[in-house]
Amino acid sequence: MSIKNDLFLRALKGETVERPPVWMMRQAGRYLPEFMALKEKYDFFTRCETPELASEITVQPIRRYGMDAAILFSDILVIPQAMNIDVEMKPNFGPYLPNPIRSQKDLDRVIVPDIQDSLGYVMEAIKMTKEKLNDDIPLIGFAGSPWTILCYCAQGQGSKNFDKAKELCFTQPLVAHALLQKITDTTIAYLKAKVAAGVNAVQVFDSWGGMLSPTDYQEFSWYYIQQIIDALKDEIPVIAFGKGCWFALKGMANSGAAALGVDWTCSPQNARYLTGGKITLQGNFDPSRLLSPPTEIKKMVTQMINEFGKDRYIANLGHGILPNIPLENAKAFVDAVKEYKG
Ligand code: CP3
Repeated sequence: MSIKNDLFLRALKGETVERPPVWMMRQAGRYLPEFMALKEKYDFFTRCETPELASEITVQPIRRYGMDAAILFSDILVIPQAMNIDVEMKPNFGPYLPNPIRSQKDLDRVIVPDIQDSLGYVMEAIKMTKEKLNDDIPLIGFAGSPWTILCYCAQGQGSKNFDKAKELCFTQPLVAHALLQKITDTTIAYLKAKVAAGVNAVQVFDSWGGMLSPTDYQEFSWYYIQQIIDALKDEIPVIAFGKGCWFALKGMANSGAAALGVDWTCSPQNARYLTGGKITLQGNFDPSRLLSPPTEIKKMVTQMINEFGKDRYIANLGHGILPNIPLENAKAFVDAVKEYKG
């Protein structure tokens, strides 16, 4: 059962490759017309919970662009939902959690669920996606970092500064840490179930890690991500992506993660320097730069690969693709990597 195009898995192992593999964070959904057609018919969690739909959405960008890895269509917020925290996805607003966690009393109703009972539909979606992919390319499973999940649980919605999440951490640290540990335990069991269902790598998204000071990052975010890496690393390659977390790259490089995600505010040279040149890096094209004309995108992508170096490198964006990216621009990004001659 070996994967035909194993560029991505080889890059994760640090092996020499003909060219870097490419995929785009949030590639499933958002900007594709075939996704928008399904979005009109089915609400967000119906799309996540119906394996036929989730697997179809997962392979849509692959059919169109031929990336070297697929990422399962789902969301990081299925975890709090399974932990007995209400999560709604409001059109044109984003996540909304009507009963946020802001006290010990709120925490008492948060459970560490049985994964099969509450998230079995994700495992079904993985199995169906694996069939559709036919072992052509690897499938990535993912979870949010415990801190990023706490951000939504405490804030109750998206935010520019997640002030309520920080308030919970700094005024009731015992409650915050107990919540983070429950999320971590759930996430470890969840990712292990994903591995058993067939994913070939997992990525932890710490989208809001950069909200914290370097010291607080260690205490409220990295401590828990490290537990997840420790629990998974002998079974599967783990990619740790922290947005705005370049200050933590040095420590992350010694964590046992197979690769580290980098955003566009850190230069490739600096990311290599901070990580001692010894670990696979993934990133870091500014998602807004996909608005430049395709010829310019191609030049910038070639430059990016030259700066990271073609080995120990996975070409990607520095955060998720934006909804307003023209289709031919997304294609230029993927094609530029596939056409790379080192
Ligand atoms: O990468 C992929 O294509 C797989 C699917 C995926 C989704 N969400 C689908 C989605 C992944 C990996 C995520 C991760 C996720 N979800 C993160 C971490 C990555 C990041 O971008 O920082 C975060 C913070 C969330 C929480 C979330 N979910 C937000 C803030 C929103 C609303 C804004 C938006 O459009 O991203 C969502 C909804 C969501 N998740 C959509 C999709 C395709 C759009 C809503 C819809 O389709 O109805």
